[in-house]
Amino acid sequence: MGNRRISHLLSLVKSSAHGKIILFGEHAVVYNRPALAVPVTQVHADVEVSESPRAGIFIDAPNIDLHAELNSLPADHPIASVILKVFPHPLPLSLRERGWGEGGLNISITSTIPVASGLGSGAAVSIALIRALSSFLSRPITDSEVNSIAFEIEKFHHGTPSGIDNTVIAYNKPVYFIKGQPIETFKTGKPFTIVIGDTGISAPTKESVGDVRRLWLRDTNTFENYFNEIAQIALIARRSIESGRPELLGELMDQNHALLQCLTVSSPELDKLVKAARNAGALGAKLSGGGRGGNMIALAEQAQAESVAQALMSAGAKRTIITEIT
Ligand code: MEV
Repeated sequence: MGNRRISHLLSLVKSSAHGKIILFGEHAVVYNRPALAVPVTQVHADVEVSESPRAGIFIDAPNIDLHAELNSLPADHPIASVILKVFPHPLPLSLRERGWGEGGLNISITSTIPVASGLGSGAAVSIALIRALSSFLSRPITDSEVNSIAFEIEKFHHGTPSGIDNTVIAYNKPVYFIKGQPIETFKTGKPFTIVIGDTGISAPTKESVGDVRRLWLRDTNTFENYFNEIAQIALIARRSIESGRPELLGELMDQNHALLQCLTVSSPELDKLVKAARNAGALGAKLSGGGRGGNMIALAEQAQAESVAQALMSAGAKRTIITEIT
């Protein structure tokens, strides 16, 4: 009995994954153009896995009002699909293999990352869950393995994702990302400050990505040109960041936002926040992520960041985050 209690205490594991923002290149990245993304450490998904004396796998995810046993969920449920991917065989068997009798698991999932907002909430939950489950079963897993499983899940739920969200979150580093190519991280020559403003409108990336695809199929030349212009911006942005001239990013953000408007993925709310940030002294601003809602970002001098954030709140932002990219 005493031993059992010790094993119970030992078999509690926790894992956490940060959110992310795309600095430049969203949407074009789906069409093999480069994009830049960075982790946002102020928001995170947290997963706790513990052994339970009752049989079954009980999931408790209050943010999405989910309190269920795994078998009661459809196999394509976003959380069930991660668990089934890590353990293709019913999990209780794995537990029995470890000599834990007929018991089961409790999985608790919480997140401070707003859902469908461009901050990578889905990928962060998947990644924290993959790591927690692997660690619970003492199966070491590399960042690259975590990334490939998370990408499978993203494809399963989001149609044709580029893989940038899972990559930046799995490696937890700034990435210069080109679909299908080895991951490249980049260094910042000089830190810079980004203010993130949330429209509070939840907008599934799958829809905006699907709409851009339909428009691209209808007018491929025009859209290829937009993507090429965005690719140029991402390339120059990377050089500006690495060479310690982040102030140049402001103008590039404005240009990237205008191109995202051409792709039809902005919205009146996003445009309003972008304008408010610029009027409050931001050096530039753009939507970030899938668009149509979710978040926008603004480049600000550190001393101005607070007043840019206040201007965003006055213009209707539901919340703001000030983050330093180092
Ligand atoms: C979503 O965070 C970024 C998009 O480019 C989609 C993707 O890359 O999969 C809009």
